[in-house]
Amino acid sequence: MKIIGVSAGVVGHDSNIDRMVKAIMEKSSDDHEFIKLNDLDYSACKGCSWLCAKPQICTLEDDLQPYVQKVRDADAVVLGSPIHFRTVSPTMLSFISRLWGFRHVDYVLKDKPFALALSGINADRGTPEEDFRRALSVFKVDVLDVIKYSSRIPPCYRCGRHQECEIGGAYSLWGDKARSLVIRPELFNRWEDNEETVNRVDAIVEKLKQSENTR
Ligand SMILES: Cc1cc2nc3c(=O)[nH]c(=O)nc-3n(C[C@H](O)[C@H](O)[C@H](O)COP(=O)(O)O)c2cc1C
Repeated sequence: MKIIGVSAGVVGHDSNIDRMVKAIMEKSSDDHEFIKLNDLDYSACKGCSWLCAKPQICTLEDDLQPYVQKVRDADAVVLGSPIHFRTVSPTMLSFISRLWGFRHVDYVLKDKPFALALSGINADRGTPEEDFRRALSVFKVDVLDVIKYSSRIPPCYRCGRHQECEIGGAYSLWGDKARSLVIRPELFNRWEDNEETVNRVDAIVEKLKQSENTR
């Protein structure tokens, strides 16, 4: 089973969402490829539907083009996104928008299994799971599940100015204690240490393997 995994994880880091996408792929199949969107230079869909309608694939020429093709060719797809503004990140939504050519006349991705993962400071705010499902529903893909992990890792842990800031996530997590907070490796929670998330990952892996048997 050929699996393509796409992550909108934090630039320059092996973030929770990167590792979760990789783990789901690696546990499900030996044939997999990982794509980190923040390493690519690409745009969202520009609405030029007269260009993608006939070939039924996006024809914009940028770093994403080969991977759009790979989504079509894959047997299953894993998508991972950090939560931004209580929903799926703009980076991931831009990627999904580039699949638009796959819903002209035919549903090119119809019934293709998709496993989805989200990570945020507090993943319980907003409706990121529903939003992720809704964005993909227009392609009639088979969303096996959406995993959500609250990492409690605000961008402030890497910005260097959290002790002087009352706006960012460090202050909302720690209150006044943020003023003396020293950033330590232990603050970077890992989904691999969270039993519930590990179980959700194992369950989605089983669903991916079953989807191969039923095809
Ligand atoms: C622009 C921006 C907006 C964010 N908005 C949210 C949010 O609404 N909810 C949330 O839980 N986390 C939010 N975050 C935090 C990120 O989701 C979090 O830092 C990221 O998931 C940490 O990466 P990791 O858990 O994959 O290692 C935001 C981060 C950025 C940069």
